[in-house]
Amino acid sequence: MDANATTPLAPEVFEAMRPHLLEGFGNASSIHFHGRQARGAVERARISVAALLGCQAAEVVFTSGGTEGANHALFGILRPGDHLITSSIEHHAVLLGAERLRERAVDVTFLPVSGDCVVDPEDARAALRPNTKLISVMMANNETGTIQPLEAIGRIAAEADVYFHTDAVQAAGKIAIDVEKIGCDLLSIAAHKMYGPQGVGALFVRRGTTIEPLFFGGAHERQRRAGTENVAGIVGLGTASQLAVAGLADGVSDRIAVLRDRLETGILERVDGAGVNAFGVARVPNTTNLWFDGLDGEALFIALDLHGLAVSGGSACASGAAEPSHVLTAMGLAMDWARASLRFSLTRYSTGEDVDFALDAVTAAVGRLRAIAPAYV
Ligand SMILES: Cc1ncc(COP(=O)(O)O)c(C=O)c1O
Repeated sequence: MDANATTPLAPEVFEAMRPHLLEGFGNASSIHFHGRQARGAVERARISVAALLGCQAAEVVFTSGGTEGANHALFGILRPGDHLITSSIEHHAVLLGAERLRERAVDVTFLPVSGDCVVDPEDARAALRPNTKLISVMMANNETGTIQPLEAIGRIAAEADVYFHTDAVQAAGKIAIDVEKIGCDLLSIAAHKMYGPQGVGALFVRRGTTIEPLFFGGAHERQRRAGTENVAGIVGLGTASQLAVAGLADGVSDRIAVLRDRLETGILERVDGAGVNAFGVARVPNTTNLWFDGLDGEALFIALDLHGLAVSGGSACASGAAEPSHVLTAMGLAMDWARASLRFSLTRYSTGEDVDFALDAVTAAVGRLRAIAPAYV
């Protein structure tokens, strides 16, 4: 139950990638037969990604994943003297990029969030300055699953003639994405959060957007991203995008939401002093973030791991760190409360038996830990 860290590779995705790993080995830039085959596969994948995002194929730039996409958006757009508006609940890919830009004389505003982990678009409007160049607000939060009001933020960005990037890594495959509705100029996704392979992703770059490349070298990706394409990975992302589109249409997301809700309700029924962070606002269907009064989330995490249940205490990159989650503290949760919280995130392969297993594991582990931890009375 840690799908937000990474998802399993879908068998269909693996089968689509297989020939590009075992048989075809062309460089997509070569003009001979093998190269042309690779190029064809890359371009077909680009069309599939474009269909997922609602954009033109030429607006898709393949990347190494969500971190590169976010960094490309930030570092490709902003120059010293510019102003960036972002939120305090972004993934570190954006947050630490913004910190670095601040050291390079870019002004940065970090928007607050509500107690339910939602950005107020009016805060974005109020933060606008004459030198604001970019707004970057994520589509769905990786820790709580909350969906941000992007369409309203997109309108504000458009009115102010400011570029708008959204990190849609945790939204892709879980909720519908339409770059026209959002009104964004840049949008980043990663294959490994949507049943594709690790180490590949895509950045939507709206036609006409002036963006510097991060890498310099060959003329790949219409000179937006130098370096030989990861053909098998890109094919995997293309197939994962097709699966994502189909999953939104055929009710996979609804089925996951039912299981997530059953897990949530089950824990609340069985465990005293537990609750859901960011309950009652729009969330992606697979994610829940729960607090357990008086418990150390790390101790509970370890107990569940020993039991065979993988969850997360924050974002995957930050788990193991003693600091409480920056997302939960931005929501105004006290340190103890934030430390007593765990994220459960389901996959499209999760079953009712998995939920039962998790319910038993959580109930037993919380009971055991509370018996030896006098903090909870
Ligand atoms: C919201 C969000 N953005 C960006 C990333 C980084 O993506 P990647 O690991 O593909 O670089 C993650 C990964 O956890 C994420 O959850």
